[in-house]
Amino acid sequence: MNIIITGASSGVGFEAVLELILSGKHKVMALARSQDKLTRLLEIAKGLNPDCEIFAIAFDIVHDDYAGLQQFITANFDGRVDVLVNNAGVLINKPFADLKEMDFVEMLQSNYIGHVRIIQSLLQFMGDGSHILNIGSMGGFQGSAKFNGLSAYSASKAALHTLTECLAQEFVEQGIKVNCLALGSAQTEMLEQAFPGYESPVMAFEMGKYIADFAVTGHRFFNGKVLPVAVSTP
Ligand SMILES: NC(=O)c1ccc[n+]([C@@H]2O[C@H](COP(=O)([O-])OP(=O)(O)OC[C@H]3O[C@@H](n4cnc5c(N)ncnc54)[C@H](OP(=O)(O)O)[C@@H]3O)[C@@H](O)[C@H]2O)c1
Repeated sequence: MNIIITGASSGVGFEAVLELILSGKHKVMALARSQDKLTRLLEIAKGLNPDCEIFAIAFDIVHDDYAGLQQFITANFDGRVDVLVNNAGVLINKPFADLKEMDFVEMLQSNYIGHVRIIQSLLQFMGDGSHILNIGSMGGFQGSAKFNGLSAYSASKAALHTLTECLAQEFVEQGIKVNCLALGSAQTEMLEQAFPGYESPVMAFEMGKYIADFAVTGHRFFNGKVLPVAVSTP
């Protein structure tokens, strides 16, 4: 499969890429803003599977121009994307009273509009049998426990959850499946920012493996679903 994953420079996205390259069955394009961290990912991936086909590209889903990415897909992915994992995300932890309007803008841009942009840009490369997997959060899952300081972040994730359900319906004719994993905690830099000192029972590599597996198989069983992936709260 030809797979694109955003937010691949750290955390669960980094680990998901390492899982995806192991089998040698997939071509993987790993996107994030930090070139140095992507270079490290590339080195580790090649160490694990010297024959793996991986492109690690510095790309900002919010601000960069998609024309270059589209050309790259045409040239290196034969113009076909089978799986798009929208995993990139940013978190602001601040009491609601202290949040500025720009904080809300940043959360919406990074956790929602950026994903809208990449989906719109790559739609032309996706067709029957392809899968868009959005990475949401239990924080944005209706009826879940909520936590102080995470209102802007959680609301932006809720927008992504609803977008998932809407697009699954809108893409029925093209045969593109759209799902969302609303993650509970996994031990990453972002978790430390959200819940300083908390230790998750789930390691980043475990969640990364789950995301990788679901990205390539989940659309055979689910469409338009926002699935909670949590054994604990937070
Ligand atoms: N860990 C958890 O407990 C947890 C719980 C619920 C949901 N999630 C979700 O899981 C996803 C991964 O989070 P994580 O915990 O693995 O955190 P992380 O280690 O901070 O990873 C976030 C990734 O997103 C990338 N990113 C941020 N903005 C970007 C942009 N504009 N363009 C491209 N890449 C961008 C970051 O790389 P650069 O800075 O290099 O761009 C980084 O690779 C996020 O969507 C997060 O909301 C995580």
